[in-house]
Amino acid sequence: MYLFLQSHFKGKIPFHVCIITIIFSTLAKQTSSLDQSYEVCKPQTCGNGPNISYPFWLSDRQESFCGYPSFKIACNGENPVLSISDDDYIIKDIFYSNHSFVLANAVVYHDKCPLHLHNFSLDRTLFSYSSDHIDFSFFYNYDKEPIEYMHPYPIDCASNASHHSFAIFHKELVEHMNYSFDSCQSPVNLPVHKAVGVEALLRMNYTEILKMGFLLNWTAQNCSNCEKSSGRCGFKNNELVCFCSDRPHSQTCDHGTSVETFSLLVILEILKKQQWRFLLLMCCVVS
Ligand SMILES: *[C@@H]1O[C@H](CO)[C@@H](O)[C@H](O)[C@H]1NC(C)=O
Ligand SMILES: *[C@@H]1O[C@H](CO)[C@@H](O)[C@H](O)[C@H]1NC(C)=O
Ligand SMILES: *[C@@H]1O[C@H](CO)[C@@H](O)[C@H](O)[C@H]1NC(C)=O
Ligand SMILES: *[C@@H]1O[C@H](CO)[C@@H](O)[C@H](O)[C@H]1NC(C)=O
Ligand SMILES: *[C@@H]1O[C@H](CO)[C@@H](O)[C@H](O)[C@H]1NC(C)=O
Ligand SMILES: *[C@@H]1O[C@H](CO)[C@@H](O)[C@H](O)[C@H]1NC(C)=O
Ligand SMILES: *[C@@H]1O[C@H](CO)[C@@H](O)[C@H](O)[C@H]1NC(C)=O
Ligand SMILES: *[C@@H]1O[C@H](CO)[C@@H](O)[C@H](O)[C@H]1NC(C)=O
Repeated sequence: MYLFLQSHFKGKIPFHVCIITIIFSTLAKQTSSLDQSYEVCKPQTCGNGPNISYPFWLSDRQESFCGYPSFKIACNGENPVLSISDDDYIIKDIFYSNHSFVLANAVVYHDKCPLHLHNFSLDRTLFSYSSDHIDFSFFYNYDKEPIEYMHPYPIDCASNASHHSFAIFHKELVEHMNYSFDSCQSPVNLPVHKAVGVEALLRMNYTEILKMGFLLNWTAQNCSNCEKSSGRCGFKNNELVCFCSDRPHSQTCDHGTSVETFSLLVILEILKKQQWRFLLLMCCVVS
């Protein structure tokens, strides 16, 4: 740029060209290069399911500073998957406005016979149950067949003539049945959304019930003010910041002036005060 101007004006660059050059290059810088963190934390999807953004982050397509460590989501094929208490859960929906999300145990999506389940637990997570849920309990290898009034959901793939596996809503009924507990595995409890009526539940099988999923809400710093100002939340030096198209701001994109705007203001101030010598000096430095 400097060389071009120098040859065009035969070695001497007039002041006005110089000023215009600075102003335009400043403006261009302000509009063209987007902040890297802002770009990296752009909402992403796995194909299916919701857009992933703060407090969640998609490990395949975003950086860890875009969200909380325990809100790490990975893509399993087209599905977003979160790991809680050693099991994978498919994220079916996320409601950013009220801090809640719907998830379902992934095993029923890719395993024909769910055998190795774990109790679901929210210990050491930043999640809590946000609506009514009921325990759906899985019993494996019982020596007696469950009685009809208990309304068992038979797991045929894990049962034979002498060993019975089933799921049930009221696990206390099983305890009254005097089963011999020697042969059986410990029962496993999984939460189920209570939204549908009992009638509907009775007509479903255990896969369909687990696929309904359940609703959790999360505790995380609120990002709505940053997002309202077109920013994206994330962490910098362990502090929540608002990544904006120009640079990270502390709270919202409207707060504080960016570096580029600042230098433009300095130039205008110099012009006003007609400190031409200083401008000439700056002109040489910038060009
Ligand atoms: C994800 O965000 C994009 C752009 O904002 C939007 O067009 C799309 O509908 C969103 N997808 C979902 C599943 O919400
Ligand atoms: C987040 O903050 C906004 C504005 O301060 C408020 O309207 C909203 O209810 C808050 N969200 C949650 C889930 O607390
Ligand atoms: C959040 O909003 C969604 C959609 O409006 C709703 O289905 C869900 O129940 C709400 N979550 C909570 C915790 O109220
Ligand atoms: C989650 O939802 C429950 C039940 O609606 C509510 O008591 C709790 O305060 C919510 N927690 C958060 C962090 O929003
Ligand atoms: C039934 O299944 C159990 C456990 O899977 C197995 O130990 C047992 O031998 C099987 N019994 C018959 C009759 O197939
Ligand atoms: C279970 O055993 C207890 C005592 O051991 C007995 O009182 C009860 O009737 C038994 N229940 C069934 C359903 O057999
Ligand atoms: C699941 O939790 C129940 C009660 O909280 C417990 O009795 C059972 O042994 C646990 N199952 C496993 C497989 O750890
Ligand atoms: C449950 O019902 C669905 C739909 O009717 C069916 O596709 C699926 O095979 C059933 N699963 C089991 C384990 O019976």
